[in-house]
Amino acid sequence: MDKKISIDYSYTLPFITEDMINGYKDSVLKAAKTLADGTGEGNDFIGWRQLPTERLGSEELKKIVEVSNEIYENADLLICVGIGGSYLGAKAVTEALCHPFYNMLSDEDRKGPKLLFAGQNISASWMNAILDQIDKAKSVYINVISKSGTTTEPGIAFRNIKTKMEKKYGKIDASKRIIATTDAKKGALRTLATNEGYRTFIIPDDVGGRFSVLTPVGLLPIGAVGIDIMKLLQGAQEASVFGAEQDLSLNPAFTYACIRNLLLQKGYHTEILVNYEPTLHYFSEWWKQLYGESEGKNGKGIFPASVDFTSDLHSMGQWIQDGQRFIFETVLNVESPMNDTKVASDKEDLDGLEFLAGKPLDEINKCAMKGTLLAHYDGKVPNMVINIPEMNSYYLGQLIYIFEQACGISGYLLGVNPFNQPGVEAYKKNMFALLNKPGYQDARKALDEKMKTLPSGKVTK
Ligand code: PA5
Repeated sequence: MDKKISIDYSYTLPFITEDMINGYKDSVLKAAKTLADGTGEGNDFIGWRQLPTERLGSEELKKIVEVSNEIYENADLLICVGIGGSYLGAKAVTEALCHPFYNMLSDEDRKGPKLLFAGQNISASWMNAILDQIDKAKSVYINVISKSGTTTEPGIAFRNIKTKMEKKYGKIDASKRIIATTDAKKGALRTLATNEGYRTFIIPDDVGGRFSVLTPVGLLPIGAVGIDIMKLLQGAQEASVFGAEQDLSLNPAFTYACIRNLLLQKGYHTEILVNYEPTLHYFSEWWKQLYGESEGKNGKGIFPASVDFTSDLHSMGQWIQDGQRFIFETVLNVESPMNDTKVASDKEDLDGLEFLAGKPLDEINKCAMKGTLLAHYDGKVPNMVINIPEMNSYYLGQLIYIFEQACGISGYLLGVNPFNQPGVEAYKKNMFALLNKPGYQDARKALDEKMKTLPSGKVTK
């Protein structure tokens, strides 16, 4: 039988106590029931809960596999255009499971297409570099992803990419190489895809962006670089099964939600997600969006931060050990790395490290982790450890589902709607006003007035 992801919260005691956990258990179970019954706020966006079970064996999954295989076989470059939830899931999983230098491998070693992302910023130099890569590649495919179909960043990027693709391949061939993932009916991207004859995949109405990695949003690009998307879904499905356990000790999502919210109640309002595998960097970025957008509302929410250890022990380590005490850490512990190697021997031993010769690197990495856990615990930083048996798509699927489920539960424990994101509109309104978008004249006037009232700072010359 496959193993299960587990949580060790030993290093959060005595910052919180077993009595506190027992006392809080009923609240966690109640919040979990609200989520499971679909009776909480935002209940029209909980379709992600059934995704793994519904997708496995579905016609849609067959189509995703078919198109991702076509890209894998025929493309030497795939560019995914999207932002936020329409970007981070695919980025997180592909970075975690592909070779660390995937895009630098030879075609023979890489097998699938190089993978680049666009539309996740408005940087001119990023755009130019992307367009340059389209020029240089032989066979380019584009997956443009936007649920609303109206988001500015991917909208701008796709205009330029589409123009470049049509110049390179001609309109008809370009349209065969562009795949749109968007709403079933609404939005500019749906209209464009229909007009241009692009192949399309649907983002379900009841799944929000940051919960959409197990829809075509994530599955198509992940499959297109040769990652086993069935195993990813199977892992998530397994997590949905043990996610129904009412006993906290058997349910990592419940335990995680319980511990982090108790820590918040004790004043630990910043959670740092820690990894010891640099390929998990973007997994933390995905997690930050998941928790940041879900919880940060009405003056509430745990602030999600992340570090890559041991790299960041040489930059953020001092602060974590000894700075202000309002942080806790959640450590992603990959029990078996994808592969291991041993420390080389050098008899001259100028660096004094010969005592490590022949030792597996992962054993040293684990000692760094253990040493850091103990040091940070001594420094009064509570630590939770999430044990991931192996770094593969099955366990990543489990982890994704556990985090999503715990996020919904945490939101209800906090008393916020975890499935909306009203706050992200504020910057867009100002940006459009500053760009004189039609219909934004009043907003522009209000902004000009506001700017007159702002305190003037000094600009150094
Ligand atoms: O989680 C969310 O809803 C957001 O991060 C969106 O995914 C992001 O804004 C992109 O939106 P869209 O897919 O509509 O382009």
